[in-house]
Amino acid sequence: MPETHFDAWIAPRYAALWPELFAPALVDATVTFLAELAAGGPALEFGIGTGRIAVPLSRRGVAVHGIELSPAMAAEVDGVPVTLGDYATTTVAGSFALVYLLRNTITNLTTQDEQVQAFRNAAEHLAPGGYFVVENYIPRLRTTVFAATSRHVGYEEYDTATQIAVSHHWWVIDGELRAFSSPHRYVWPAELDLMARLAGLVPHERVAGWDRAPFTGDSTDHVSVWRKPARAASPIPAGPGATTIAACGSGSDG
Ligand SMILES: C[S@@+](CC[C@H](N)C(=O)[O-])C[C@H]1O[C@@H](n2cnc3c(N)ncnc32)[C@H](O)[C@@H]1O
Repeated sequence: MPETHFDAWIAPRYAALWPELFAPALVDATVTFLAELAAGGPALEFGIGTGRIAVPLSRRGVAVHGIELSPAMAAEVDGVPVTLGDYATTTVAGSFALVYLLRNTITNLTTQDEQVQAFRNAAEHLAPGGYFVVENYIPRLRTTVFAATSRHVGYEEYDTATQIAVSHHWWVIDGELRAFSSPHRYVWPAELDLMARLAGLVPHERVAGWDRAPFTGDSTDHVSVWRKPARAASPIPAGPGATTIAACGSGSDG
């Protein structure tokens, strides 16, 4: 079982520590994007956290279920069912129109095998024609300051030998200076596409954010969507000569 860094100190302070994630415009754009893909069907969030998006998505009429490693984070979720466990391997009953993974949570799995297993687990939970969404950052491969306010300094260090980035946060909160560090397996869109292909998913869309801004070489983040073909596909391509995956946004994914 992977280790959770979202403990009983973080969980009740999640919104205070990362207030930018709760900006109403961001939450609304995220919920709108996901609700459109779900199109009335049920959704499954991997790493649901405190329900930042799952709760407003369920209020929008989508039946949401969550999987979460941290009991402390799950205890904060209001009104959405949560199964405790590792989203790479935990299964829940039913099949879903949408499985989604937000805010770099794919990088909380710190080996390639675990990330590949997460894509397989997503595919196994999807109904034919269903969508898998991953929101992730583009690795920058040098020590990067990603937050610098009077209450929060955050930076990330990269080890290219292990493909691990360690994120360090320093907060002044509740009158105290608190430090928090977590390891992440950073990953580029191309490797995620390969994981999707291994899981039998095909590219559907890649954009720079929830407002569907175009993804370009300057984008710092991406929201990627793959689709489970409506007709059964071999989960692992058959080697040389196997069908080439469709280009993003081609819509020719069955
Ligand atoms: C960055 S938070 C994002 C929470 C929520 N999705 C959001 O957007 O606000 C990552 C969450 O994923 C959970 N998590 C990390 N690794 C996990 C795993 N392998 N299985 C299940 N949950 C995991 C963490 O405990 C944490 O709650």
